[in-house]
Amino acid sequence: MKHFLKVTDFSADEVEVIFQNAAEFKRQGRHTPSLLQRQSWGMLFYKNSTRTRVSFEVGLNELGAHAVILSSGGMQLSRGETVADTARVLSRYLSGLIIRCYDHSLVEEFAASGTIPVVNALTDLTHPCQLYADLFTLAERWTPGDGKADIESLKGRKVAFLGDTACNMANSWILSAAHFGMEISLAGPAEYAPGKPVRDLLKQADLPETFKFTTDAAEAVRGADVVYTDVWVSMGDEDEEATRIAQMQPYAVTAPLMAETAEGAYFMHCLPAHAGQEVSQEVLDSPASIIFDEAENRLHIQKAILAALAGEPR
Ligand code: CP
Repeated sequence: MKHFLKVTDFSADEVEVIFQNAAEFKRQGRHTPSLLQRQSWGMLFYKNSTRTRVSFEVGLNELGAHAVILSSGGMQLSRGETVADTARVLSRYLSGLIIRCYDHSLVEEFAASGTIPVVNALTDLTHPCQLYADLFTLAERWTPGDGKADIESLKGRKVAFLGDTACNMANSWILSAAHFGMEISLAGPAEYAPGKPVRDLLKQADLPETFKFTTDAAEAVRGADVVYTDVWVSMGDEDEEATRIAQMQPYAVTAPLMAETAEGAYFMHCLPAHAGQEVSQEVLDSPASIIFDEAENRLHIQKAILAALAGEPR
């Protein structure tokens, strides 16, 4: 049985099919076939969410499934019932489980203990659903022909990631670049350089360490096809807020920095954004910014991911 815990859980060929299905779901609008008719999928969120939570619930509904919203605090998990027992019990009721949590080992334990597909809706280590939506959004732009999104169009493109380069989004981009043949340069304070967790992810996936890290923001964005950033204070890092904001100032994405990129480069952000911190309002509102298309594509790509997982034999 297949789970979706990391971007490397699907091969490039499988992602090509996911992109084609996402493009078809997008073209069809709300009237999509009921691929998951009469199924019930659990959604267990330990962290706040707007895009992920709503796009999954809407996506499940559009595919004919029912979303069972679970709160960790309201379950026996919060009173000591084990993850393993919870996963076994939920597997008797549900067709799949979508989880957002802090420690990545939790989604791995649910996947290992239960008998239903588990989807990682963000952990401290990775955010694969966001990455597939981001890559799909770029492929839509780089593939000739209306409504097409070809994974091959990503090959050789240069990505620049600025700010906290050890966060779950940076890890996911590093892994994606290696998996799908893109170049990636990251710039941020040395204290927040990519670390052992992402090196371990690359090793587990048998991928080379091809990413470049610099403390010079201009060097990272020079000639880039995409500039990406995320909040400087991720959920769980609030006690470091003042230090992080002070250290990351040189890595704010501004219009002068965007002027260093390749012609036609895009600005992306997984959102929510803090205008005036990691990115200026001018860049957020600029023609290069594709942030709301990214957000919309969470819905289409997640429907295609759910369809891919639901099609796996149990
Ligand atoms: N980008 C993202 O995951 O948004 P939410 O935290 O609102 O789900």
